[in-house]
Amino acid sequence: MCRVNVLLIGSGAREHAIAWKLRQSPKVDRLYLAPGNAGTLPVAENLDVSATDLPQLAEAARRVKADLTIVGPEAPLAAGVVDYFRTEKLPIVGPTRAAARIESSKVFAKELMQRHGIPTAGFRVFTSPSEAKRYVESHSVPFVIKADGLAAGKGVVVAQTKAEALAGVTDMMERRAFGASGERVTIEECLTGPEVSVFALTDGVHVAPLVAACDYKRIFDGDKGPNTGGMGSYSPPEFWNSALADQVMRTIIQPTTRAMAQEGYPFQGTLYAGLMMTPTGPQVIEFNCRWGDPETQALMPRLKSDLLDIYLAIANRTLDKVAVEWRPEACVGVAIASAGYPGDYQKGVPIYGLENVDRDLMVFHAATKMQNGQVVTDGGRVLTISALGKTLTEARQVAYRGVAQIRFEGAQWRTDIAERAVASTL
Ligand code: AMP
Ligand code: GLY
Repeated sequence: MCRVNVLLIGSGAREHAIAWKLRQSPKVDRLYLAPGNAGTLPVAENLDVSATDLPQLAEAARRVKADLTIVGPEAPLAAGVVDYFRTEKLPIVGPTRAAARIESSKVFAKELMQRHGIPTAGFRVFTSPSEAKRYVESHSVPFVIKADGLAAGKGVVVAQTKAEALAGVTDMMERRAFGASGERVTIEECLTGPEVSVFALTDGVHVAPLVAACDYKRIFDGDKGPNTGGMGSYSPPEFWNSALADQVMRTIIQPTTRAMAQEGYPFQGTLYAGLMMTPTGPQVIEFNCRWGDPETQALMPRLKSDLLDIYLAIANRTLDKVAVEWRPEACVGVAIASAGYPGDYQKGVPIYGLENVDRDLMVFHAATKMQNGQVVTDGGRVLTISALGKTLTEARQVAYRGVAQIRFEGAQWRTDIAERAVASTL
């Protein structure tokens, strides 16, 4: 068998989960992470290269003789890492910068959906704050106001009153709370219904069977408190079924991948659709151009197929030739965060109990590092503890057993991940 060297760009729990899964492939020889974290050390070699430094990444790929580079986060994709590697004749899989606009520009994504009749909330685009305010004054609430560019999930205001809507416009467009992302904003109709993250692996032409997960964005139980990068996830959602998967494939995923190919920027990689199950059917809230975090930590344990085979098939446009199969088991992932997150927090806090975690648990590191032989915290979200189970109830119990085995000062986590799903399936 011909074994390959793989370079994976990124350093979060999502990348640890992808690395963990890649390591199980007999075809992967050496696995490198740029830059990785303390958790990826047992499965890969960490390279001291920033995930957004394109020339250094290309240099590292050449140095380690990577046969394939895979990209975790959106920032390098939006910066054009795929185009850069292709110019340098380095093998890489992922969406080009033009295709990554499906995430990096909300206006691009909304206009694409509008042109191709893909269900999404009605919207208007504004480049002038006074026009945006006039629109708010003359229409009825609620509205959703979004800054155009990447804003780490924070450039969105769901306004229930005109005062909130006007404050959102002022913050984004005049105070530039999200920098240049506030040059253009969209004001959207407010949709209602349960949210679901749907993932479609595609080579630009073929699309693999969909998989779905739910995530939890707020810091506190009961969806209270400020937004975070994601505090936990579970898969599959209790309301997900094959009829719904077919409907999402037919009305959203296939028209989107076809539209992107037709318009000259075929999407190769993981197309992530954030959907709302409205009373009139699934509608797109947003698209992302990569796997979700924390959803990936609840998905990789469910992936039965060889992840390297899948990536090679995406790169070669032969995704119809490989099986992409998901185990029927449920998976629950609970994030553990530093005290104070998503506000200010300390780094360098020692983490205890990692070596004693039960073997049926997966501990995916998000922000950790080694300091004098001790694993310490190195960011806001520190770890995700994931567990499989025959049912969501079982997976949830095992995951929380793991959470209780790990300790660091000020550690905080939500106690209600997958709780509503468990309650509704009893
Ligand atoms: P986004 O960054 O576009 O995913 O938006 C962040 C969150 O805002 C979503 O997860 C939704 O909960 C909410 N949201 C975004 N757009 C809408 C909409 N059109 N209607 C209702 N809620 C929305
Ligand atoms: N789960 C949210 C994100 O990955 O953007």
